[in-house]
Amino acid sequence: MKNIKQSEIDLVAKVFSDVFDKYDLMNDIMSLGVHRIWKKNMIDWMNPQKGSCLIDVGSGTGDIAKSFLERIKFQGKVTCVEPNKLMLKTGKRKLKNLNKIEWIAASAEKLPLESENFDLYSVSFGIRNFSNINQSLKEAKRVLKKGGRIFCLEFSKVENEILKKLYKTYSRSIPHIGKYVTGKSEPYEYLINSIDKFYNQEELSEIFKKNGFYKVEYRNLSGGIAAIHSGWKI
Ligand SMILES: C[S@@+](CC[C@H](N)C(=O)[O-])C[C@H]1O[C@@H](n2cnc3c(N)ncnc32)[C@H](O)[C@@H]1O
Repeated sequence: MKNIKQSEIDLVAKVFSDVFDKYDLMNDIMSLGVHRIWKKNMIDWMNPQKGSCLIDVGSGTGDIAKSFLERIKFQGKVTCVEPNKLMLKTGKRKLKNLNKIEWIAASAEKLPLESENFDLYSVSFGIRNFSNINQSLKEAKRVLKKGGRIFCLEFSKVENEILKKLYKTYSRSIPHIGKYVTGKSEPYEYLINSIDKFYNQEELSEIFKKNGFYKVEYRNLSGGIAAIHSGWKI
């Protein structure tokens, strides 16, 4: 998969502008609530310590920020970076009582932030949408402190043939569910196609390594429907 073109950047922006108000609801419906377990799995692996600083990029409506802050009993900080103003506004409103979150309207490829400022970097179901993954990972590495760690939760590739068939059949119903709930099927067609075209676990690991992360590992979730990748800046 190559870096995507301007027309595709516009398409991604339109997709999220079309669904921002039903984004959380659709996540729960499409994944039957499982996305919450996957996000919790990422926070479990991250095992954040009190006082740590997280940057969550492609933060959407802020699920990771909330979960992270709850885990460290609100003794730390999160910077949520999200280019879509409607998603960002929805997140800000949803988490208005959490004053440990800074919200920034920006893209992963160009973070308007100082270098070596964060202990942890996370991206959850966002990297697939980034227009330039290599540039985004370079930026991730730049803003992480030495000894900092990146975590990436993303849809991935199922290996078991039976599960693969079941998942494929279920995936085909998602645009119909999307149409029923939000009145639009196109954003969900984009979602299914983008998952299909995306890298497998090993390919994504190689990209992390190529961009200077060390000790890159991944863990499959639900048989590889999703995976969490992690790497260190040293
Ligand atoms: C599928 S949502 C995931 C939201 C949230 N992280 C979650 O797990 O629920 C992907 C998000 O990535 C954002 N996004 C798209 N392109 C981006 C980019 N180049 N840089 C940062 N975020 C981007 C979208 O606007 C959208 O809010």
